[in-house]
Amino acid sequence: MQDLQGKVAVITGGGSGLGRELALCCAARGMKLVLGDVDERGMQETLRLVEDAAPGTESATMRLDVSKLEQVQALADLCKSRFGGAHLLFNNAGVSVGGAAWENTPDDWEWVMGVNVYGVIWGVKVFTPMMIEQGEGHIVNTASAAGWLNGPNMAVYNVSKHSVVALSETLALDLRDVGANVGVTCLCPAFFPTGISESERNRPADKADTVALSEVAIKRSEMTKAAVAKGKIQASDVAEMTVKAVEANQFYVFPHRKIKQLIALRAQAADNEQTVFDSLNPQ
Ligand SMILES: NC(=O)c1ccc[n+]([C@@H]2O[C@H](COP(=O)([O-])OP(=O)(O)OC[C@H]3O[C@@H](n4cnc5c(N)ncnc54)[C@H](O)[C@@H]3O)[C@@H](O)[C@H]2O)c1
Repeated sequence: MQDLQGKVAVITGGGSGLGRELALCCAARGMKLVLGDVDERGMQETLRLVEDAAPGTESATMRLDVSKLEQVQALADLCKSRFGGAHLLFNNAGVSVGGAAWENTPDDWEWVMGVNVYGVIWGVKVFTPMMIEQGEGHIVNTASAAGWLNGPNMAVYNVSKHSVVALSETLALDLRDVGANVGVTCLCPAFFPTGISESERNRPADKADTVALSEVAIKRSEMTKAAVAKGKIQASDVAEMTVKAVEANQFYVFPHRKIKQLIALRAQAADNEQTVFDSLNPQ
């Protein structure tokens, strides 16, 4: 979608990190904003920053849990009633949990898969028909480098992000099959500084039973947290690259160049068939 001016951007997870920066990028292009997040205060802070940077930006917010289909439907209804539709959807809300694959609890799996996978599924399910009907639209799914490369201590997150890559690729092919004028972008960043390491702040009370981390898992989790904090690319850079990709109708976005090299090495490891690929110690 080349010209974003005056169009409507919907951003889940718009109350923090990447979602906030996407809101700023979209507002800078004259878009109207609809933010959805469990964190109402975070969304209000985003709108305050938007008002500073792009005064007069039209906006709406909805407190919602993306893992619930009916709440995502309500977000789409808000877009329709307030702005007549939605042109650009960022399925961006996400959470993370550590732990060894066999130790994660049912609540760990259900919470993370609910937000990271079902959140994207429901966004696609609810907004794609609206975009097809209006004859134009674009959907950006925030996957991750973890949608391609599997580090230890991240089974739940890795599984969820591989699902987002699978859904995004299939969605793009299905839209092509029916000749719809709806673009898809699959965003696959490695670490960058945001609130993702403090995901537990958003964990619902009915999914509170989490894994007791082993010593190894604590070490691994600390390494991941440090990698996020020290990420060299900022959320604002990732957001700008992503919105530019929408304008260019580009499908894959890998903000961190090294990830593509590692994916190629993973393909080699698969070709050799001998041993699991270790992205932290690639051979
Ligand atoms: N930061 C990184 O290193 C990194 C790397 C790759 C991918 N990502 C992905 O980027 C996306 C954005 O995360 P971030 O890094 O900005 O983290 P963040 O924690 O700063 O932002 C995530 C946002 O999602 C919201 N959220 C959480 N659960 C929700 C729910 N059930 N319903 C609605 N909103 C909910 C949070 O309130 C928060 O505003 C996520 O999908 C994440 O997996 C992040």
